[in-house]
Amino acid sequence: MRFQTERPASWQTCLHCGNEVVETDPRPRCGVCNGLLEIRHRPPAITAAELIQRFTERRGGAPGATASGVWRFREIVLPSAESVVSYPEGNTPLLHRIALDRWAGIERLLLKHEGQNPTGSFKDRGMTVGVTQALRIGARAVACASTGNTSASLAAYAAQAGLPALVLVPVAGVAMGKLAQTLAYGARTLLVRGDFDQCLRMVDEASEKLGVYLLNSINPFRIEGQKTIVFELLQQLSWEAPDWIVFPAGNLGNTAAFGKAVREAHEWGLISQRPRLAAVQAAGAAPFAHSFRDGFVRRHRVKAETVATAIKIGDPASYDRAVTAIRETNGVVLSAPDAELLEAKAAIDAAGVGCEPASAASLAGIRRLVHEGAVKPGQRVVAILTGHILKDPGLLMRYHQEMDPPPAGANRPIEIDATLAALERVLREG
Ligand code: F0G
Repeated sequence: MRFQTERPASWQTCLHCGNEVVETDPRPRCGVCNGLLEIRHRPPAITAAELIQRFTERRGGAPGATASGVWRFREIVLPSAESVVSYPEGNTPLLHRIALDRWAGIERLLLKHEGQNPTGSFKDRGMTVGVTQALRIGARAVACASTGNTSASLAAYAAQAGLPALVLVPVAGVAMGKLAQTLAYGARTLLVRGDFDQCLRMVDEASEKLGVYLLNSINPFRIEGQKTIVFELLQQLSWEAPDWIVFPAGNLGNTAAFGKAVREAHEWGLISQRPRLAAVQAAGAAPFAHSFRDGFVRRHRVKAETVATAIKIGDPASYDRAVTAIRETNGVVLSAPDAELLEAKAAIDAAGVGCEPASAASLAGIRRLVHEGAVKPGQRVVAILTGHILKDPGLLMRYHQEMDPPPAGANRPIEIDATLAALERVLREG
């Protein structure tokens, strides 16, 4: 069907066959062709200048949903939402560290640290919208497959909303912090003997049969929330778009969300220049980078392997949306080997910033792009750090305490007797 006459504030459209459904239709995919859905909004009824003024007034306002870094932008996220499930989330900082400028080889690198969201990852931005929508449509339970961060976020927001949550995660390879959060927030947690791609296929197929609302990033409402990473960084830059936004890519929800955010911000007059997107994958989990190299003529699928477990994904679900995002922004997709991800992570950690392994793909990717000449040292670049350093303490302890020989960045602790003499000896030896 297509809406013929007066359009509602928002609706869903199939990116494959163009079918349109109402905003409150709970199916995760198009009922006609099973394609991915996208939320469309009527253009805001007020001018770009008036919108920007509203966003400015709400920033740093009284505590509550309006101050959320997601719902501050509600006119361009989910205008019809009346009551929302908000922690609140967002309002993450843009950081600058000279040591990381040097490491990447550019003059001024800004880091948007999404690990400073309530559950420690950017997923909270999508989840506040997804769980809000779950309540609006009367869902009885919510579900997702995850490499760990989505499950932690879903568990927390479902707990706040009073909804039962079901999560499927691979039995091996979910970082300790993420699994611990998921259990603690109370989600029913299934450890699947398989990888993330299998978990996602299972929950995607089962959600309708089980009567649970699917909250993976194939859910278009998740994408609406994740767009606000871009809106918020544009606001922090006084709506002067950077030349590049660089970020890690796994299941490609963020790639899709960033592309949509750039398109809408440009269409609705919030920015005059479009930033270019650079999506960075781990070399052992880089199907999207392979497809980019082939000019997107072929969709690749791989058996994923990487230390960055968050992005250990071989068959990304938002592939089609992400291709559009890269094409529309004149973007690029690249990959970096695990050794480079760990080196970049060690640099981010040692600068006192810290992030989880997947997040460091942003910095590793920028250094590669500078080497290739795609990013010029004087350009304005924003790197997205997607998750908190404490998400993956297991990897940190291996890196600093156990690896033999120790990597260049390893900071080995020294065990000593409880005496002043022992302390003095260590300090003397340097
Ligand atoms: N960075 C982190 C820390 C992540 O957790 C994820 C995805 C990504 C990057 C990649 O984002 O999938 O939108 O391309 N984590 C998902 C999860 C898959 O289940 O937590 P993407």
